[in-house]
Amino acid sequence: MSASVSPQLSAFALDVVEGLSCAGQKKISPRYFYDELGSALFDVITLLPEYGLTRADERILQSHAHNIVSEVGPVSIVAELGSGSGKKTKHILQALTRAGNRIIYRPIDVSRAALTACERDLGETSPVEPVCADWIEGLSEIASARTRREPLFLLFLGSSIGNLERKEITEFLRRVREHFQPGDFFLLGADLVKDVNTMVAAYDDSTGVTAAFNLNLLGRINRELDANFDLRSFTHEIRWNDTERRIEMHLRSMRRQRVYIGALDASIGFDAGETIWTESSHKFTPQELDSYAQASGFTVCRTWIDEEWPFAEALWKAVPT
Ligand SMILES: C[S@@+](CC[C@H](N)C(=O)[O-])C[C@H]1O[C@@H](n2cnc3c(N)ncnc32)[C@H](O)[C@@H]1O
Repeated sequence: MSASVSPQLSAFALDVVEGLSCAGQKKISPRYFYDELGSALFDVITLLPEYGLTRADERILQSHAHNIVSEVGPVSIVAELGSGSGKKTKHILQALTRAGNRIIYRPIDVSRAALTACERDLGETSPVEPVCADWIEGLSEIASARTRREPLFLLFLGSSIGNLERKEITEFLRRVREHFQPGDFFLLGADLVKDVNTMVAAYDDSTGVTAAFNLNLLGRINRELDANFDLRSFTHEIRWNDTERRIEMHLRSMRRQRVYIGALDASIGFDAGETIWTESSHKFTPQELDSYAQASGFTVCRTWIDEEWPFAEALWKAVPT
């Protein structure tokens, strides 16, 4: 690897090469979707008629912000895992402020572009102190900097939890719980299982925005890692996996080809029809969410479900472990 490659870039480069070199299914983590263009494309996805998740999430937050905030009580720090542009969070911040809380909002995201949008759009509602880091790393930084008198309210919206493998979820939530004090609250947004055609269309919209979002991952590798992917020779593919109850997003190579990644002086071969698995979006039942809470040191306070698009907003309280 060239000596001028930054540590962050080298983590990206190493993950890409590892994911594309593994025997069997090639994979790249969805965390790498969100460069400036990817974050902007995701914001467009949230407006697509087929993508009901964000509107459902926002409807619940908007209609129940007052109830959520009353249940949570006094709060000093609102942190958010993978905040993106934080648009929906505004409802919670405004309700907390109206209830007399003096809060600091600490969005955690690997995307600097997303955090810049957050600071710009939410700075008028409350002070914003972003953390550009991975979920747990960012949470650990925030938790270790606070005192026992500063109650934490952590948000994890947009069903990003669904990007984790099912078997990893309890362990991930336990790691989140380790940074809580008993009495802190956690608000988790999770998309529910629904009609298969509706779920597939949400990730395969007729305008082609999600396809562009998926292909941008290869564009990002070209730009940042000096690679030569021909984006026109890959297609966006969505599958519903009924056993795992998840949407799987892939990029399919339409021909046999080799791609060169300059930053690592590595060359990767693709067979015609071979895919790169770029994202999983697991879908849940409300009962499943309750069992995750129980297994990871939380008690369920309340769960709101959107009537138009089955989506759950679960409010959990950390209990002594
Ligand atoms: C699908 S967007 C969701 C944004 C927002 N939470 C919402 O509900 O609309 C996912 C966001 O999480 C960030 N992200 C993905 N993986 C991450 C990770 N491992 N650590 C921190 N942020 C991550 C991305 O950069 C992106 O901004």
